[in-house]
Amino acid sequence: MTGGSSGIGLAVAAALARMGTGVVITGRDEDRLRAAVERIGASGTPGGLLAVRADVRHAEDADRVVQAAVEHFGDLDILVNNAGVGRWGSVSELSAEAWAEVLDTNLTGVFHTCRAVLPVLKRRGGGWIINISSLAGQNPFAGGAAYCASKAGLNAFTEALMQEVRHDGIRVSLVLPGSVATNFRGGGGGTGDWALQPEDVAQVVVDLVGHEARSLPSRVEIRPSRPPKKG
Ligand SMILES: NC(=O)c1ccc[n+]([C@@H]2O[C@H](COP(=O)([O-])OP(=O)(O)OC[C@H]3O[C@@H](n4cnc5c(N)ncnc54)[C@H](OP(=O)(O)O)[C@@H]3O)[C@@H](O)[C@H]2O)c1
Repeated sequence: MTGGSSGIGLAVAAALARMGTGVVITGRDEDRLRAAVERIGASGTPGGLLAVRADVRHAEDADRVVQAAVEHFGDLDILVNNAGVGRWGSVSELSAEAWAEVLDTNLTGVFHTCRAVLPVLKRRGGGWIINISSLAGQNPFAGGAAYCASKAGLNAFTEALMQEVRHDGIRVSLVLPGSVATNFRGGGGGTGDWALQPEDVAQVVVDLVGHEARSLPSRVEIRPSRPPKKG
C-alpha cells in the first residue's frame, strides 16, 4: 500500500488488515506513519503490519519496500498504488517544480512500484495491482492541469499494464473516486456531509480482491450519491 499513512490509503490498509491480510504501508513522513500504525493496530492486524518510510518518486525506494515486504511476510500478492498529491493553479502560474512533483508522484511513482512488484507477482503466478486514480483524470477542470494530466496518464498506463499481464494471472484494476473527505495534501479533498468517506473506497478494494480468479473488474468509478445540485 503506497501512501498508507492517511486518508484513503489508511482506510484501505485498515480494511485489509482487519481481513487478516499482512499489510505494508509507506509514506514520506515518519510521524504520520507511526500514527497510522497505531490507528490501524487499534482495529486489529492479525496478519501483521509493517511501515516503511519511502518516497514513490524514487525507484530505489520502491525496490527497497518490495524487498522488505517479501522478507517480512514471505510473499506479496496485492499492490495498491494510492500515494498521490495535488498542486493547483493555472498553467501560466504553475511552477515547473509543482508540475514535476505531481507527475513524478502520481504517475512515475506508480511505474516504479509496478516495475518493482511485477517480478514477484510473476514468480508466484499472479496477484493484484490496484491503482487509485480519480474521476479528475477523465473530467479535467481549469486549475487542475497537472493533477488531471497525471491521473489521465495513470488511467492509460493502468489499462495498458492490465493487457500486458492478465495472462500471467495478474489482475490490474483502476479505481476512480470522486470527492472523498480526506486532508488531501495540497487541498482538493471533498468536504461536507455529502462527500465519500475513505472507508467507501476501501470497500471497493476489499470487494475487488474478493472476486473469483476468472473475474476482473478492471475499472471502478465511485462518486458521492448525492452531491450538491448545480445551478
Ligand atoms: N481525496 C479525494 O477527494 C480524492 C479523490 C480521488 C482520488 N484521490 C486519490 O486518492 C489517493 C489518496 O489521496 P488522499 O485523499 O487519501 O490524500 P492524503 O490523505 O493526502 O494521503 C496521501 C498519502 O500518500 C502519501 N504520499 C504522498 N506523496 C508520497 C510520496 N512521494 N511517496 C510516498 N507516499 C506519498 C502521504 O504520506 P506522506 O505525505 O507522509 O508521504 C499519504 O499517506 C491519491 O492518489 C489521490 O489522488 C483522492
